[in-house]
Amino acid sequence: MSNKIMIVSGGASGLGLAAAEKFAKNGYNIVLIDVNEEKGKKAEEKIKGMGVDAVFCLCDISNKEQVQKAAQIARERFGRADVLINNAGLEVRGSILQCEEDDWVRLYEINLKGIYYMSNAFVPMMVEQKKGAVVNTGSILGYRTVPERAAYSSSKGAIDTLTRSMAFDLAQHNIRVNCVVPGAIDTPLLRGSINDSPDPAETEKVLGSKSVFGRMGTSEEVANVMYFLASDEASFVTGAAYFVDGGWSIM
Ligand SMILES: NC(=O)c1ccc[n+]([C@@H]2O[C@H](COP(=O)([O-])OP(=O)(O)OC[C@H]3O[C@@H](n4cnc5c(N)ncnc54)[C@H](O)[C@@H]3O)[C@@H](O)[C@H]2O)c1
Repeated sequence: MSNKIMIVSGGASGLGLAAAEKFAKNGYNIVLIDVNEEKGKKAEEKIKGMGVDAVFCLCDISNKEQVQKAAQIARERFGRADVLINNAGLEVRGSILQCEEDDWVRLYEINLKGIYYMSNAFVPMMVEQKKGAVVNTGSILGYRTVPERAAYSSSKGAIDTLTRSMAFDLAQHNIRVNCVVPGAIDTPLLRGSINDSPDPAETEKVLGSKSVFGRMGTSEEVANVMYFLASDEASFVTGAAYFVDGGWSIM
């Protein structure tokens, strides 16, 4: 087993949990960051059951003190940080005319300031090691427009720009920074909005039609790309946005 450490925000569910499982399968010890205590504890047990060490930190990534505490726990327990997956995100619906100010601010606090807090707290360990990899989770909606996602789409577009800026600045420390751009992926988040829609079967069909394969993606298909981007196989890849969208972006 390696002594490598992977930290993932939103690690209790969906893409974050799939990433934790992928890295655990490959011998990484995992730090799970999430606001959902019940699912976070379950995820911790699941990862431990895979024969590696795991710690769940109940932490809201938009809260600086909580993020710093989580980084302190990780440092005390493992003493290093090899991979950081900035994955937790919030989706709020509404056009610029409909979106409430509180929702707008909350979304930006999580989707962008959360990445700043997390990176600011965990990347210094990578700087000390003179090596590391960061993967941010963007979204196809940062590149393709659907109705009434003004705050979400703009925040995900900004994650692409932030990724390139981080990649430029952190290269001197031998830290690579990339971004995955998921299309429609069948996670608890998307399943919830499918089930809440007026016609779930039709909504699922429409989401499937956003891929040239005629289906939604799986969390594992995104986690595989996160793993590649963080691995030494991608040693000359930085500042990139990797589309894991089943071809939505070429349609
Ligand atoms: N599912 C998709 O189709 C899709 C497509 C494009 C992008 N994404 C992005 O992928 C990421 C993960 O989404 P998912 O589909 O796996 O959703 P999910 O709901 O299954 O998982 C998200 C997790 O993040 C946690 N979380 C939310 N706010 C948090 C906070 N402030 N601090 C810490 N944890 C927090 C939640 O508790 C949850 O466990 C998000 O950034 C989302 O925008 C998803």
